[in-house]
Amino acid sequence: MGELTHRSVLLEECIEALNIRRSGVYLDGTLGRAGHSREIVKQLTSGRLICVDRDQAALDAARERLAPWLDRVTLVHSNFDQIDEILDGLSLPGVDGMLFDLGVSSPQLDDGSRGFSYMHDAPLDMRMDQGTGRTAADVVNTCSQEELRRIISQYGEERYAPQIAGAIVRRREDRPVTTTLELVEVIKSAMPSKALREKQHPAKRTFQAIRIAVNDELASVERMLQRAVPRLNRGGRLAVITFHSLEDRIVKTGLAGFARGCTCPPDFPVCVCGKTPDIRLVNKKPILPSEGEIEENPRARSAKLRIAEKL
Ligand SMILES: C[S@@+](CC[C@H](N)C(=O)[O-])C[C@H]1O[C@@H](n2cnc3c(N)ncnc32)[C@H](O)[C@@H]1O
Repeated sequence: MGELTHRSVLLEECIEALNIRRSGVYLDGTLGRAGHSREIVKQLTSGRLICVDRDQAALDAARERLAPWLDRVTLVHSNFDQIDEILDGLSLPGVDGMLFDLGVSSPQLDDGSRGFSYMHDAPLDMRMDQGTGRTAADVVNTCSQEELRRIISQYGEERYAPQIAGAIVRRREDRPVTTTLELVEVIKSAMPSKALREKQHPAKRTFQAIRIAVNDELASVERMLQRAVPRLNRGGRLAVITFHSLEDRIVKTGLAGFARGCTCPPDFPVCVCGKTPDIRLVNKKPILPSEGEIEENPRARSAKLRIAEKL
C-alpha cells in the first residue's frame, strides 16, 4: 500500500470559522488524517484538542502526524454521536469549538482492502469502524429487495434503484455477493447501456448508498448535531462540512431549529413558549470551495461548510 494521502477540504475557512483561542478546548469529530487537527493544534498553547474518529486506522496514522503536539491532544476512538459520553469521560462540561468534516476520507477510499471503492477488488466491508456493526456484504445479502431499493434510491439518489435491487436479489439466490467487483458487475447488469456510458462510474451512487446504510451516517449526523450544540461554550463555534444534499439538509435544518427563537403560532399576541435562539448562523449561505481548490482537489467539489456560534 503506497502513501495514502488526504487533502483537507476548506482548511483555511474552517480554521477561520473556529475563531481559535490559544487556551481554548476544541473537538475535531472527524480526525481522518489530521489535516484540520494539525492546523488547530498548532494554534494552541495551554489549550486542548479532542480528536475523534470511529476508524482505528485514522487514529493510528494521526498519532504520527500529530506527534509534535501530543501533549495537547486527546485521541478518542468513538462515533461522534457520542459527544456527551466523550466529554463526560474527560470531565469537560463544554468546548470552545467543534469541527465535523463528514463522510469518508481519501485513505479509506484508496485502501483497497476496506471495500469502499468500486475500483479495487476487496471483501464487501465499508465499515468505518471495523470492530462493530453490519458489513456491506451483510446489507447486500440480507436486506429485503424493498429495503435495498429504498437504500439505493434514498441514499444514492439512483434512478435505477428498483432494477439494481432486483438484480442483487436474483444474484444472491444463486450465491452471495461477497466482493466489491462482484457487486459492480451486478449493478452494471441492471443498468441500460446508455447509463453505462455516462461519465460517472455506474456503481458510484449505489456504493455511496450502501456505505451510508452500513455506517448509519445520516442518523449519526442528526444525533451529533442535537448533542453538539448544547455542549458548546458561549461564543463557541460549530463548523460542519457536508458532501451531499442529504447530509446538508440535516445540518441546515438542525441548525435552523437551534437558531430559531419563539415558536409560538404567529397569531399569538404575546410569546408564551419563552424559547430563545441557542445559536446564530455565522453565514446565511454555506461557504463553498474556490475554483482553485476544486481544481487541485476534485473531491472538494460538493463540499459545503456551515458555521454556527453559540449564544
Ligand atoms: C472526510 S474525513 C476527515 C478528514 C480530516 N478532516 C482531515 O483533514 O484529514 C472523515 C473522517 O471522519 C470519520 N467519521 C465519519 N463519520 C464518523 C462518525 N460518525 N464518528 C466518528 N468518525 C467519523 C471517518 O472515519 C473519516 O476518518
